[in-house]
Amino acid sequence: MSELTKADLYNEVGKRTPIFMRFSAAFLGKESPDQGPSPRGFAIKHYTKDGNYDIVGLNWPIFFCRDPMQGPDVFQSQQRNPEKSLDYNATFDFLANVPESNHAAMMLFSNHGHPKGWRKMNGYGCHTFKWVNKESQFVYVKYHFICDQGSEQLTWEEAKKKYGEDPDFSNRDLWEAIEKGEPVSWTAKVQVMKPEQADAAKLGFDPFDVTKIWPRMKFPMQDFGRLVLEKNLEKNPKDYHPYVEQSAFSPSSMVSGIEESTDMLLQARMFLYRDAQYHRLGVNFHQIQVNCPFMSSGSASMGFGGSGNTHYASNSSVNKFRPDTAEVPYEVSDNIVSRQSHYFTEGTHKEYDQARELYDRVMSDEARAALHDNTAALLKLVEYPNIQIRYLAQCYCINHKYAQAIYDLLPERAFDFGRVGEVAEDAPSFGKERKFMPFGKNHRLVGNPATIPTYQK
Ligand code: HEM
Repeated sequence: MSELTKADLYNEVGKRTPIFMRFSAAFLGKESPDQGPSPRGFAIKHYTKDGNYDIVGLNWPIFFCRDPMQGPDVFQSQQRNPEKSLDYNATFDFLANVPESNHAAMMLFSNHGHPKGWRKMNGYGCHTFKWVNKESQFVYVKYHFICDQGSEQLTWEEAKKKYGEDPDFSNRDLWEAIEKGEPVSWTAKVQVMKPEQADAAKLGFDPFDVTKIWPRMKFPMQDFGRLVLEKNLEKNPKDYHPYVEQSAFSPSSMVSGIEESTDMLLQARMFLYRDAQYHRLGVNFHQIQVNCPFMSSGSASMGFGGSGNTHYASNSSVNKFRPDTAEVPYEVSDNIVSRQSHYFTEGTHKEYDQARELYDRVMSDEARAALHDNTAALLKLVEYPNIQIRYLAQCYCINHKYAQAIYDLLPERAFDFGRVGEVAEDAPSFGKERKFMPFGKNHRLVGNPATIPTYQK
C-alpha cells in the first residue's frame, strides 16, 4: 500500500504490528444480554513505531446518524429509560424521526444484530478516512475486516435461547478459541476513492456521510493485510480489569499517513472519546499498559525527555514540530458556515436508496423474513401508536412491503395500515429543518485537495 499511504504499518510486505482488540455491545448498556440485538463494537489498537493507531468500528458499515449533535441520542435511545428502567419507546421514536438512521436500523434488526459470537462477525471502520503518501497525495478509504471463520448469525429464537443458557457466550467462545490455538482472523480490505471522485452529485450519495456505504461494484475491495488473534503471536488478557476494562480507544489516535476526512461525525468523535476517558480512567490513562504506545520510540512514547533535549519546536537540532507528519491540506468547506455538512440526501427520498438496495437486492427471502420477525418482536413493545406509525412510515419509504410485513406481525394494532402510507408522504422530512437541506451549486463539494499557492521568493 506504500503508493497510497506512508503509514509505517501498511508499508512493508510481511510486516507484523502488535494489536489489542476489544469487542463490545451497546444496547441496554453494560447489562446488555450477550446475544441480544445490539450494534457490536470492533475496536483495534495498533502499536506502531509512530505511536498507537486506533480503528474504532462496528460489525456493520454504517451508523445511525450523521449529525454529531444526534450522536448521544443514538445511544440514549438504546439505553434504559431512567423512570421505568426499560422500554422500547425511545429506540423506535429515534428511528421514526431520523430518516437516515433506518439503514443501520435494518442491520440492527436483521440477524446481524446477534452475530454468532465475536469471531463470526465482520468489522468495519464505517467512516471515510484519508490515506496520505510520501508525496502528500491522498485518497479516501473505507476499511472492511472480513471474518476468515465465515460470518454467521443466530436467529432471534436461537439468540434468545443462547443468552439464557450462556449469557457470556461471545466472550467464552473467543477466549476458548484463542486458548486452543484455533485460527481467529480477519482479512483486511480497503475501498479506495480518488478525491476527484468524491462528488455527491455524481455519485448519488455523499461519500462522507456515515449513514451511507460505497458500492463495491464502483469501489472494489482490495486486500491489504490480516488481523490475527493467535495464542502464539498474541495472548488472551491475563487480568480483565487492567487489560480490557481500562483500555481506551479513540478515533483521534492516528499515525502519519492516515488522516481524518470531512465527515463531521468522525471529527466530533475525535474529540469526545478522550473526554470520556479522562473521566473514566483519569488523566494518566496513557500510562496504563494496554494504552501505552510501547512500540514507539518517538515523541509518542512514554520515555523521559532528558537533559540537552530542547523543549521547544522548531529548533536547529531536532524539529519536533515534525512538518513531515503534518496533515495534508484539503478543502473542508465551501463558502457557507453551517452545521450542515454532508446533507446531500437530507429531507428527500434519496435518503432511502441504499437501504432499499439492501432490502430488495442484498437480503435473501430468509433474511427479510428474519428482519420482519425481529423488528415486530420489539416494535410490539412500543406503547404509543404514533411512534409505531411514524417508524413504519420510514420502513414504508424504503419498501412498502417491508412496512406491511412488520405491521402484519404486530399482535395488536391501534391503526390501519393505510395511515402508515399517508404519514410516509412526509417521512423524509421528519425532524429536518429546511435550512439544513441542500441548496445551491457547489454547496456540498468539500473534501477536495486544496490548491496550495506557490510562494514567490
Ligand atoms: C457522535 C456519535 C458517537 C458518540 C457520542 C459516541 C460515544 C462513545 C463513547 C462516549 C464511548 C466510550 C469511550 C470510552 O470511555 O472509552 C464510545 C465507545 C465506542 N464507540 Fe462510539 N460514539 C459515537 C459514534 C460511534 C460510531 C460512528 C462508531 C463506529 C463507527 C462508534 C464505535 C464505538 C466503539 C466500538 C466503542 C467502544 C470502543 C472500546 O472498546 O473501548 N461510536 N462511543
